[in-house]
Amino acid sequence: MPIHILAIESSCDETSASVAQDSKILSNIIASQEIHQKYGGVVPELASREHQKNIVAVVEAALQEAKVSKNELNAIAFTRGPGLLGSLLVGVSFAKAMALALDIPLIEVNHMQAHVLAHFIDEPQPTFPFLCLTVSGGHTQIVWVKDYLQMEILGETQDDAVGEAFDKTAKLLGLPYPGGPLIDKFAKNGNPLAFSFPKSEMPHLDFSFSGIKTAILYFLQRQTAQNPKFIEENLPDICASVQHTLVEMLLDKLRKAAQAMNCSQIAIAGGVSANSYLRKRLQEEAEKNNWQVFIPAFQYCTDNAAMIAIAAYYKYLQKDFCPQNVGALARWEF
Ligand code: KG4
Ligand code: ZN
Repeated sequence: MPIHILAIESSCDETSASVAQDSKILSNIIASQEIHQKYGGVVPELASREHQKNIVAVVEAALQEAKVSKNELNAIAFTRGPGLLGSLLVGVSFAKAMALALDIPLIEVNHMQAHVLAHFIDEPQPTFPFLCLTVSGGHTQIVWVKDYLQMEILGETQDDAVGEAFDKTAKLLGLPYPGGPLIDKFAKNGNPLAFSFPKSEMPHLDFSFSGIKTAILYFLQRQTAQNPKFIEENLPDICASVQHTLVEMLLDKLRKAAQAMNCSQIAIAGGVSANSYLRKRLQEEAEKNNWQVFIPAFQYCTDNAAMIAIAAYYKYLQKDFCPQNVGALARWEF
């Protein structure tokens, strides 16, 4: 008998629900919250309210598209953390209530592990062990993936995430939130070597992105003092140069990790893995270093419940269920 799992993701500003039949995704509905655009970042209070408004319709749409009824579900999965507490609580409470009403098991999923497991939705899939660079709005991690649910963080950011560096730069340039995709778009017509920014050096496999953010702020202040139209006249070159610096910082550590672990299977995951320059540079590095690279489809890079459903499927096989008194975790290292 196939196993049907309904998964819910609500860790940040996307309300998403997905139904999986074993490891096959039958539906993946995502409601993005546009309300944050005008504030230049996610406003936690507004995010949780939007989740509350959207969650019933999103879950119903996921079941409908999958053509699976509530009574056919074998388990309910949810993102327990890390993320915004108020946002997580909406998904956690909804999942608990639904599991209780249907009298089926409840499965907690770590959002960062799920980003890595997005690689097991489609083909081709990496084989264990492999390295995964997980880059999102809240995290920047190099993960050693030993098995579906056995992962070790080899290095991570000590301050801002790389997605934050993209978004904060975009804000300085007057672009709406989330600015990462817009920097990607404008950079396509720019010269990545037009301006140079200092890359911060961190020991081992760790990262730091707060210094570069300040360097960009001072650079823009200096330039606009001389020419108030500097940003307007140079937007593609600024975007391409910032993007180049951020991506090279990621690739420097990835090369180091590949060497240290003697591993040639390299994956990327998380929202920033949708970045076209990172994808292109990774392919170039793959040819140079003889790597086999794994890049998820766009819809599985940014936040989605399909990745939660896949993670939950492997937990279901191990009967790794959680009790009804489970709570959300804003921080959760795996
Ligand atoms: O994984 P995700 O959807 O949410 C978190 O878990 O944080 O990642 C969101 C981040 C945002 O910072 C967004 O600007 C960035 O991913 N992002 C991009 C691109 N698409 C999304 N950054 C650069 N280029 C992109 N194309
Ligand atoms: Zn995420």
